[in-house]
Amino acid sequence: MSELVHYARQGDVGVITIDSPPVNALGQAVRAGLAARLAEALADEGAKTIVLTGAGKAFSAGADIREFGKPPAGPSLPEVIDAFELSPKPVIAAIGGVALGGGLELALGCHYRVASPFASLGLPEVKLGLIPGAGGCIRLPRLTGIRAAADIMIAGEPLDAARAEAAGIVDRVAEGDVVAAAVRLAGEGVGHRRTRDLPLAGDAELLAAVTRDVAKRTRGLFSPLRIVEAIEAATRLPFEEALRHERELFLSCLASPQRKGLIHAFFAPREAAKVPGIGPEVKPRRIETVGIIGAGTMGGGIAMSFANAGIPVTLLETRAEALEKGLATIRANYEATAAKGRITAAEVEARTGLIRGSLDYQDLAGADLVIEAVFESMAVKHEVFRTLDAVCKAGAVLATNTSTLDIDRIAEVTGRPQDVVGMHFFSPANVMKLLENVRTRRTAPDVQATVMEVARRIGKVGVMVGVCYGFVGNRILHARNREAVALVNEGATPQQVDKVLTDFGFAMGPFATSDLAGLDVGWRIREERRKAGDPEVDAPNWLDALAERGRFGQKTRAGIYRYEAGSRTPVPDPETEALIADYRAAAGIATRAVDDREILERCLFMMVNEGARILDEGIAARASDIDAIWLNGYGFPAYRGGPMFWAEQEGLDKVVAGIEAYHARLGTGPWAVAPLLRRVLAAGRGFAG
Ligand code: 3HC
Ligand code: NAI
Repeated sequence: MSELVHYARQGDVGVITIDSPPVNALGQAVRAGLAARLAEALADEGAKTIVLTGAGKAFSAGADIREFGKPPAGPSLPEVIDAFELSPKPVIAAIGGVALGGGLELALGCHYRVASPFASLGLPEVKLGLIPGAGGCIRLPRLTGIRAAADIMIAGEPLDAARAEAAGIVDRVAEGDVVAAAVRLAGEGVGHRRTRDLPLAGDAELLAAVTRDVAKRTRGLFSPLRIVEAIEAATRLPFEEALRHERELFLSCLASPQRKGLIHAFFAPREAAKVPGIGPEVKPRRIETVGIIGAGTMGGGIAMSFANAGIPVTLLETRAEALEKGLATIRANYEATAAKGRITAAEVEARTGLIRGSLDYQDLAGADLVIEAVFESMAVKHEVFRTLDAVCKAGAVLATNTSTLDIDRIAEVTGRPQDVVGMHFFSPANVMKLLENVRTRRTAPDVQATVMEVARRIGKVGVMVGVCYGFVGNRILHARNREAVALVNEGATPQQVDKVLTDFGFAMGPFATSDLAGLDVGWRIREERRKAGDPEVDAPNWLDALAERGRFGQKTRAGIYRYEAGSRTPVPDPETEALIADYRAAAGIATRAVDDREILERCLFMMVNEGARILDEGIAARASDIDAIWLNGYGFPAYRGGPMFWAEQEGLDKVVAGIEAYHARLGTGPWAVAPLLRRVLAAGRGFAG
C-alpha cells in the first residue's frame, strides 16, 4: 500500500510524493498511503515543513472514478484533507501538472500552493454529474470569492497556473523543478495558513443571481445547482457543518442516474482508443506532414484541425479559384475566432502559416498522411487515389473522408490497399470532436494505429469502425430519421417530434438538424439512387417536395421550418404542413394523434436496434464505441451516456419488448428485433459482458 505514496527528507523539509500512475488518482490505497506518510512526516523530528507533490505528469487527477458506486472504504478523502490542513507543521503543495477534482481539493487543504507554469488546476466534477465533495465548494470561495468559485466549478474547465495565481488559488508560479521551488518557499519560513480560517461572507443578491444564471445555462442537469447550494451553505454554516452538508449533496449526485451516464461518457472514448487487435506492440507510423485534397467545407476544416495542433499541411485543389476561396475561408474563420478573443493575432498568422496551398500533386510526394476530401463521387475518388498511388512515397497513409462510399472499392485502384483507410470527420471539422476512423478488410494494423494516434494528437475522439453504408454514426442517424419521418407521416408534426427529443436532452431535434445540414444533400443522394433504380430508396415524400421547391433549410431561410432574417430559430410553417397533408392524402394515410411517448420510444428504440445490428456485424467493436460516437458527433445528451447505455439503464427487457410490440404493429423489416439484443438479454450481463 505504502509504495503508492513515498516519504523522503530534503534538509529540514519532509517531501511526500504520490506515485500512482498514470494520474495519481486518489483511490483507497493512495488515501491510506497519504495518511500514513503524513503521520511519518509529523513524527520525523528533522522535518520542520512538509511538501506534498505528485510523481510524473500529475499532482493528482482527483478521486479514483472507478471507485464510484462501490462501497466506501476509509480513510475518506475529506478525512485525509482535514489531516493535512490541521497538520501542526506547515504543508506546501508542489503542483507540477494536473491538480483536478479531489486532487485540487487536497491542494486547497494545504497551507500554500506552488505551481509550475505548465500546471492545470480545476474542479471538473460537474462533468461527471458530481459536485466537488471533499471541501472544494467550501474552500475555493474562501480563496477566490463566490462568483469566481461558482464559475470555475460550474464550467468545470481547468485554469492554467497563471490564471490560477490571478484567481488566488496559487501562491507562487515557479519555473523549473516545482518541488525545489516549494522547498525554497519552506526555507523562507512559512507559517500555518489554513483555508478554513479565511472569512467567507454571504451575499444573498449575488447568490440569487448565480442561481438564476446556472439554472438557465445548465438546463436539465442535476449537479450544477447543488454546487450553488453547497456554496450558499458555506456562507452561512460553520466550516465543519458546511463540509457535512457538501458531502450529503455530493452523495445525492453520486446516486443520480446522470452521474452514471456522465461517467460512462467519460470512459467510452478512452475505451474506444483501445482498438481490439491493435495492441501496444503495433507502432504507429510517424506523421509529420499532412496533405489534404479538396479545400471545400470539409478539407478546410480538416486542415485547420491539423494546423491547430501545430502540424503542417499542404492543401491541394485542382483549380486556383477553389484554392484561393478555401484558403480565404480558413483565414476568415481564424480571424473570427481571434475577434472573439479565443486566439491571438499571432496565433492566426502561425496557424494560417502552417497551411500551404498547392495545385500540384508533386507537392504531396513527401507527405506522411494524405486525406482526401473531394466531391462524393466514386469516379472522382478513384482518379484521386490512382494519382496518389503514383505520387506518394512508400508507407504514406492514404485516407478518405467519404461519408457514403465503399472504402474497399476506393482502395482497390491503388497498388497499396493496406495503406488506405477512412478518416470520417464531422462538419465543422475544426470544431467537432468525433473522428470515425474506418478500417477496410485490408487496412494494415500499423495504419489503424496511426489514424487513432493522429486523432489523439489533433484532440479528436477517435473511434475505429468498419465499412458499411453510413458507417456507425450516420447509419444510426438514418434509421432514427426514417422513424421521425414515419411518425410525421402518421400524424405527428415535425415540431412535436423535435420537442420530444430536445426535452430528452438533445441540443436539436432531427428536423431542425436536417434544416441546419441542408435538405438538398440528402435529396440529391436519393434522386441519384432512384435514377439508378436502387430498390432501397423510398418513393419521394414531403421532404423531397420541400427540396424540389428550393427549401433547403437554414441556408435558404426555409426548409422544414422557416427562419426570420438573421435568426436560427425554427418557426413552424403552414407550407410544410400543407405538403405533409398532400403527401398523406396521396399515400392514403389516415392520420391519428401520435403521443410523445411513442415518439421517444420509436426514435430511441430504433437507434438501439440498429446499433445492435452494427455490433453483430462487427462494424463497431463495442456498445460503448457506439455511445462515444453519438455523444461526440451527434449531440446525444452526455448525462444519458449514449444510446446503448441508455437502453441498458431503461432495461433491455423493456426495450426488446417495446421493439417487439412496434414490430407487431408496424411490421417493417427494421423493427425486427436484432438477434444480438435477444442474446444479450438472455445472457443477462449487458453489452459489456
Ligand atoms: N480516476 C480513475 N482513472 C482516471 C482518472 C481518475 N480520476 N483520471 C484519469 N484516469 C485514467 C483514464 O481512464 C486513463 O485510463 P486508461 O489508460 O486505462 O484508459 C488514464 O487515467 C489516462 O487518462 P487519459 O487518457 O484521460 O490521459 P490524458 O493525459 O489525456 O488526461 C487527465 C489526463 C487530464 C487527468 C484526464 O484523464 C482527466 O480529465 N481525468 C478526470 C479528472 C476528473 O474528472 N477528476 C475529478 C474526479 S471526481 C472527484 O475528484 C470527486 C471529489 O470531489 C470528491
Ligand atoms: P465541397 O464541395 O465543399 O468540397 C469539395 C472540394 O473538393 C471542392 O473545393 C472541389 O473544388 C474540390 N475537388 C473536387 N474534385 C477535386 C479533385 N479531383 N482534386 C482536388 N480537389 C477537388 O464538399 P465537402 O462537403 O467538403 O465534402 C467533401 C467530402 O467530405 C465528400 O466525400 C463528403 O461526402 C465528405 N463529408 C462531408 C461532410 C459534410 O458535412 N459536408 C461530412 C463528412 C464527410
